[in-house]
Amino acid sequence: MSNPNPTYVLGMGSYVPSNKVDNHALSLRVDTSDEWIRSRTGIRERCLAEDDQACSDLALEASVRALKDADIERDQIDLVIVATITPDMSFPSTACLLQHKLGLGKISSFDLEAACSGFLYALDVADGMLASNRYHNALVVGAEKMSSILDWDDRTTCVLFGDGAGAAVLSKKGAGHELLGFQCGADGSDPTVLHKPAGGSLLPASQDTLNERKHFLKMNGREIFKSAVRVMERAVRELLEKHEISMDEVDHVIPHQANVRIVESLAQRLEISMDKFFCNLENYGNTSAASVPLALDEGRALGRFRSGQLGVLVAFGAGLTWSATLIRF
Ligand code: ACO
Repeated sequence: MSNPNPTYVLGMGSYVPSNKVDNHALSLRVDTSDEWIRSRTGIRERCLAEDDQACSDLALEASVRALKDADIERDQIDLVIVATITPDMSFPSTACLLQHKLGLGKISSFDLEAACSGFLYALDVADGMLASNRYHNALVVGAEKMSSILDWDDRTTCVLFGDGAGAAVLSKKGAGHELLGFQCGADGSDPTVLHKPAGGSLLPASQDTLNERKHFLKMNGREIFKSAVRVMERAVRELLEKHEISMDEVDHVIPHQANVRIVESLAQRLEISMDKFFCNLENYGNTSAASVPLALDEGRALGRFRSGQLGVLVAFGAGLTWSATLIRF
């Protein structure tokens, strides 16, 4: 299929902290085991940021690599979007902090919050802003310090996540992978299925919220599992239908890296072979908004995606949000 006005990925970069923590190390902290984590999730280890490394620092490393890969001068960037649920602080946005750390111009910079679907939502938003012709080169980042919102005494959640960042430089002009289409959605009917209850305007920080550990991520894992498979299947089907592409024409799927069993169930429902799915969650766990760009960048570096091949990026996250993107490598 052709798109008369695609957005090009001029360059990409990713970063994970050097501190690798394997399942055995976690089993010394909570009542779990390498066997349980691997068999239920496929995760073997994750990378955790240092105490003094904030989300914007992870975003910075990935962005520097993406700008270099794109071979673009910093003064050419006129838009920064950071997708994250673990910003350095509630405000100002991590995008503003990143803009300054990168030494960019005084350009539009804002955060986008769609949890694990955030990077794909940001691609959609950037595509629209670039199509308006009022912006020309966008830096889009998915960055998370998930370790900062995990309850390290809760074995049902702390074993699942990791820290990292992925970034892409986008433009309507140039050459690179083509972003051909987008499909985003959300269902806000049950926020409690995956949320961080306190610290917002509904439940501001207090001694009680601290005592009740309400500043940590809470999740109903079974419900999220079922919803994840359902909404990702729907997003992929709707995206392909809209662009009149059959399932057979898809060469690669780069899914949100939450749990290999979720990916296997999705593959089964879409009737796409697991060979076409690129997974690296074994080494990073679920890095939320960083997960898809981390996988995309790693797959590219490994030479997994050949020029001209068609790929689908797909994610789900708290909200519940979902998103799928069509990419021509
Ligand atoms: N180690 C050992 N045992 C554990 C652990 C652990 N780390 N965690 C839970 N268990 C126990 C439970 O307590 C339970 O014990 P019980 O039967 O005595 O009550 C048992 O293991 C089974 O628990 P389940 O929750 O049924 O396990 P399940 O097979 O559903 O796997 C999991 C749990 C891995 C969380 C799965 O449901 C899942 O992956 N869900 C999706 C999570 C997800 O993708 N979240 C990311 C959302 S993205 C975002 O926006 C941040």
